[in-house]
Amino acid sequence: MQISPSLLSADFARLALEIERVPNADWLHVDVMDGHFVPNITVGLPVVESLRAATDIPLDCHLMITDPDRWAPSYAEAGAGSVTFHAEAAHAPVRLARTLRALGARAGLAVNPATPIAPYADLLPDLDMILLMTVEPGFGGQRFLDMVLPKVAEARELVRRSGCDVWVQVDGGVSVDTIGRCAEAGANVFVAGSAVFGADDPYRMVRTLREMATAASPLATGS
Ligand code: DX5
Ligand code: ZN
Repeated sequence: MQISPSLLSADFARLALEIERVPNADWLHVDVMDGHFVPNITVGLPVVESLRAATDIPLDCHLMITDPDRWAPSYAEAGAGSVTFHAEAAHAPVRLARTLRALGARAGLAVNPATPIAPYADLLPDLDMILLMTVEPGFGGQRFLDMVLPKVAEARELVRRSGCDVWVQVDGGVSVDTIGRCAEAGANVFVAGSAVFGADDPYRMVRTLREMATAASPLATGS
């Protein structure tokens, strides 16, 4: 069970200090938005390069951009441990996933709440992670969409049947109130923005979220 705090809810003027508040994070989730794929603009490559130099925690880059085929490889080259692009935006997802892996990054495929996952089942051998959006992408602090939970379970089942070691990530509205349901449905990587950086003690929140996920997951040892 891995926790990936989203820097979208951190103070962008003090990112290095914000990162120091979550030394127990498994990943740092970086939301890259271009104002086209989603109605918001955040950060891009220069910030990812600076973050890479500022921390040893691996970067989990979530690209909410049009034309990821063109831009995503640069994030792998910049040293991101994981690069996730959207199925709705990619022109050649298999080629892109293979390119990302060849550059040394884990390859992730994201789908919006209304996008089905089953059509992408054949891509699983080329992927390291599926990201299921549990809010409409674009902003932090939105309410978790319970309607996505059956798709989380479906994704976990597709992964099981494929025999591939593909992680299932949920992103959006993940908190102490919702993480148990996500883990129960089969997620094993949890992005949390406002829940972590809005907490008085982000370090403790990361630990609490991981404990709750472990307790609820059918995948975790001992359950
Ligand atoms: C939304 C982003 C999320 C966002 C999650 O488009 O992809 O990563 O930061 O924020 P919370 O956890 O506050 O919903
Ligand atoms: Zn995200």
